[in-house]
Amino acid sequence: MKIIICKDYEHMSRFSADIVIEQIRQKPDSVIGLATGSTPLGMYKELIRQYKKGRVDFSKVVTFNLDEYLGLSPDHPQSYHYFMFNNFFNHINIKIENVNLPGGITAYNLDGVCREYDEKIEKAGGIDLQILGIGHNGHIGFNEPGKKLYTQTHIVSLSHETIKANSRFFDHIDEVPRKAITMGVGGIMRAKKILLLASGKDKAAIIKKAFSGIITTEIPASLLQLHKDILVILDKEAAKELKLDNKRFCA
Ligand code: F6R
Repeated sequence: MKIIICKDYEHMSRFSADIVIEQIRQKPDSVIGLATGSTPLGMYKELIRQYKKGRVDFSKVVTFNLDEYLGLSPDHPQSYHYFMFNNFFNHINIKIENVNLPGGITAYNLDGVCREYDEKIEKAGGIDLQILGIGHNGHIGFNEPGKKLYTQTHIVSLSHETIKANSRFFDHIDEVPRKAITMGVGGIMRAKKILLLASGKDKAAIIKKAFSGIITTEIPASLLQLHKDILVILDKEAAKELKLDNKRFCA
């Protein structure tokens, strides 16, 4: 595991965008796992900027998003479907048929939908590069802390903490969906390379716990310590509780 500490959010966003661009240069038909949330927004903006300058071509790239709320239609402004099109896909030359998001409101056979999503990832050759954020409770995707974790794509009841954290995007906390579909921890761990981003002082405590050397299902992100090719990219604020000897590399 390599930890890279950038001086601020902008630097972190540019640094991570460069890694995505390099991945696509080396393999134009890369399969990329994507996250929503506030953290990767700067990276998406930078990728769009670089695309407009002609420095990256998404025409062969295939994407799989980590998760989606259940019960929101794709055109709902808070759905992850809407988020991805609005903040990224609408501004680059990705082919719509290469974009994959799990679930959707019409998903009635939820188990089948979950299995199909995993099969589709496998058929695409697996994820080459997975982008992750981290929840304040250590969740990755919507794999919430608990006694057990699921390996495959599955339906999850969101924790109170996650509902509260995500209520900042809704008019009222009651509007936040209680359930979601998420790739499992196994799906995430099978990615060939993982890039986890975190910024801001409110993420400092969970970053320290997740990468402390202890692994527990109560902090799902801690399992990532077992991955053989993971890069954790932090801004200074998110890194401030890490002990010096944890800082493998600084940018
Ligand atoms: C979103 C996702 C979540 C977020 C996490 C952090 O697709 O998978 O795990 O990465 O909740 O969210 P932000 O970046 O808003 O702090």
